[in-house]
Amino acid sequence: MSDFVKLTYQNKEFEFPLIQGSENEKGIDIKSLRAQTGLITFDPGYKNTGSCKSNITYLNGEEGILRHRGYSIEDLCEKASFLEVAFLLIFGELPTEKELNLLNEEIKKDSLVDEDLKLILKSFPKAAHPMGILASLTSGLTAFNPSTVNIDSEEDMREAIIMLMAKFPILTSWTHRKVKGLPLNYANISLSYVENIAHMLFKLPHQDYILNPIVIDALNKLLILHADHEQNCSTSTVRIVGSSEAGLFASVSAGVSALWGRLHGGANQGVIEMLTAIKRDGGDTKKFMSRAKDKNDPFRLMGFGHRVYKNFDPRARIIKKAANDVLKELKINDPILNIAKKLEEEALNDSYFIDRKLYPNVDFYSGIIYRALGIPTEMFTVMFALGRLPGWIAQWSEMRKNIEPIGRPRQIYTGEKFRTI
Ligand code: SDX
Repeated sequence: MSDFVKLTYQNKEFEFPLIQGSENEKGIDIKSLRAQTGLITFDPGYKNTGSCKSNITYLNGEEGILRHRGYSIEDLCEKASFLEVAFLLIFGELPTEKELNLLNEEIKKDSLVDEDLKLILKSFPKAAHPMGILASLTSGLTAFNPSTVNIDSEEDMREAIIMLMAKFPILTSWTHRKVKGLPLNYANISLSYVENIAHMLFKLPHQDYILNPIVIDALNKLLILHADHEQNCSTSTVRIVGSSEAGLFASVSAGVSALWGRLHGGANQGVIEMLTAIKRDGGDTKKFMSRAKDKNDPFRLMGFGHRVYKNFDPRARIIKKAANDVLKELKINDPILNIAKKLEEEALNDSYFIDRKLYPNVDFYSGIIYRALGIPTEMFTVMFALGRLPGWIAQWSEMRKNIEPIGRPRQIYTGEKFRTI
């Protein structure tokens, strides 16, 4: 097979290298396109454009495959803890017991945030959306930890990574407590990473907080399922912000804002709002299906469709089973789950969705578990961010270590030609 691609333009022939990944994905290396031909490519939404080479996560959208550093998401959900998956994403291998213990100890040591961050928190109205609060608090970390990350120093990088892994869960819990009007909790370093997240979110001052193993297991699984997903919108944001040599905290803060959107991480909140609206409307799923197919109606079936998966999102399969298990174990009968299953059944048998290969994605069932765990709807995307943090850190580190050029796409100008006032 030739390892280049030919392009003919204005009766001249140009050759561009064909690059191939370890899973046989192929791409045309067009780094010299403009220099050779004067042309640029045009690809709104980057549907056909690879922004980088990466060793972290592999997706196969046709076969519904998701792997982190070669391990399948199914295997990781069954056999690993969220902190082990975070270590795998960031450092490239699953940790030995010694490495995991060291990471745990370093995170516990750093599990405090500057008390003055409460001043930023205090300035928000209770009605503020948690994702806006979290983006500000994350950016605020830069103010209290001003040293930019020297990526040439392993020590500096590790310190920044530990700091973020330790402080981000505190910020997410403070965001939740602020919106609920509850006193802020501090980390309890006698607990595991995920137990501590539950403790900080739910511990009330006037009663003991008893850890429920079902809740902890479900949280662990949900965080793993959200940990990384190659070059999605928010991860691409973290990479492009970092490519200007902005710091890690500022880049992650930008990722939080990108994740907020309804078409991306905000979809998990959108799914529950949609299912609740269907329930309130009498449960007529067919009416909402028609709206989703009506081009004149901006309504979309939230939690359905994906830029890459043109088959089942493997995460949706795992979450759907976990939702059943958690509701059964917690003895919760949530009518929303039944509406979700009915909607899924109808969509999977509807030619509009079949023709467009629209399947349930990670967000379709995740909100049902978050509800069962007592997490309010407006906090669902914050929980997504908490899971995605190690992926953002890993991708940012990879981009900085590869010394990738600053991200700066070109455009096709279609505005006014030269004119005078
Ligand atoms: C996440 O990229 C990632 O990896 C993201 C993510 C991650 O882990 O980081 O997986 C997390 O963001 C999951 C996606 C969550 N978003 C939603 O559930 C929102 C609803 N879904 C859509 O808005 C949409 O499917 C997207 C945004 C997810 C994907 O959009 P694309 O790839 O740009 O596809 P498209 O808009 O070009 O749609 C193709 C066709 C269109 O119809 P036609 O013009 O061909 O007639 O499918 C239709 C769309 O109108 N379509 C839908 C639909 N999704 C696509 N129609 C109704 N309901 C939907 N949900």
